[in-house]
Amino acid sequence: MSTAQGAITGDGAPAIIAVRDVVKTFGAVRALDGVNLAVPPGIVYGLLGPNGAGKTTLIRILATLLRPTSGRVEVAGVDVVANATAARTRIGLAGQFAAVDGYQTGRENIEMVGRLYGLSPRQARRRTEEVLDGVDLGQAADRLVRTYSGGMRRRLDLAASLVGRPPVLYLDEPTTGIDPANRMELWGLVEELVAGGTTVLLTTQHLEEADRLAARIGVIDQGQLIVEGTADELKDTLGGSVLELATAEEHETTAVQVLARVAGDEPAYDAERARLRVRAPDGSRTLIAADDVFLSLTGHPTGQAPPAAAEAHPGSAPQGRPGQPAGAGHTPGGPAARPASEGQRR
Ligand SMILES: Nc1ncnc2c1ncn2[C@@H]1O[C@H](COP(=O)(O)OP(=O)(O)OP(=O)(O)O)[C@@H](O)[C@H]1O
Ligand SMILES: [Mg+2]
Repeated sequence: MSTAQGAITGDGAPAIIAVRDVVKTFGAVRALDGVNLAVPPGIVYGLLGPNGAGKTTLIRILATLLRPTSGRVEVAGVDVVANATAARTRIGLAGQFAAVDGYQTGRENIEMVGRLYGLSPRQARRRTEEVLDGVDLGQAADRLVRTYSGGMRRRLDLAASLVGRPPVLYLDEPTTGIDPANRMELWGLVEELVAGGTTVLLTTQHLEEADRLAARIGVIDQGQLIVEGTADELKDTLGGSVLELATAEEHETTAVQVLARVAGDEPAYDAERARLRVRAPDGSRTLIAADDVFLSLTGHPTGQAPPAAAEAHPGSAPQGRPGQPAGAGHTPGGPAARPASEGQRR
């Protein structure tokens, strides 16, 4: 775990995004209060934080749209404040609020941005087709953007940020307002970009999104980076995933036995909620391990009590509600067992 002090990342690699002691005030509001960040190339860096934490302010500074009150910012070796024009050729930005022109078609919007990036008309047309397909807007490309839904606009904005193939891409809450299917596609797209060498700085309010995409995560709050590291390091710091298992009281002993084997700690029983709670250091892997242990103890997996037994003896397996077989299933977020983040402790 480290808070970056310079242009060298914790892994010793030179940073492609380097933020040093950046302060940004708006009158009495200290939106950024001495932020240091060093992002190695070729990864997704997730910047996680609640409303008003300073995420967009930092992105806008990195994107040359705002000057820091003090501190230094470099992207791909270019000083963003002193050399904004050069910096702009190296970055793409899909902002929190889609910045596309409603009175042009999707295709016209993207081609225009491609030209602004310095592509020839032919290159711009070709790249436009590619990126519109990439964000699944090929079909809607010739419609005026003012007829697009909010999610379509956001995807168009993302396409605009990609058309110039910038080595560094900023995505400010890219999946806010996007439906689950398109969110998954967008995640896939981000993964493809990173596999191709792009560095992505992504802000989000969702730990799940940062966990899925980001190799490193920084948590920002009230303008300060309060913790920084890999997703696993962060989970350890924040208390890790927590496994909750709904179980009938009579099965408490067996369930405790199972959980104690796979999780580090002794599970605690919450009688009021009929729940066992234990830290799960490996998140979903702990769930799977719990299931394996349960299988060897009982002959059936936790989530699948034999139907006959479940019918005949409601509550014969660790379960959520009487008559409903449910236990430490493989599905995070399932009704009875879920790895739950303990949130952001300070
Ligand atoms: N142009 C501005 N003028 C005055 N205050 C501002 C301005 N921009 C941001 N702020 C303030 O700076 C702080 C950080 O705002 P910022 O938009 O960076 O937060 P955020 O982390 O992006 O939040 P959200 O998750 O809601 O998008 C907030 O207190 C906000 O009110
Ligand atoms: Mg914001």
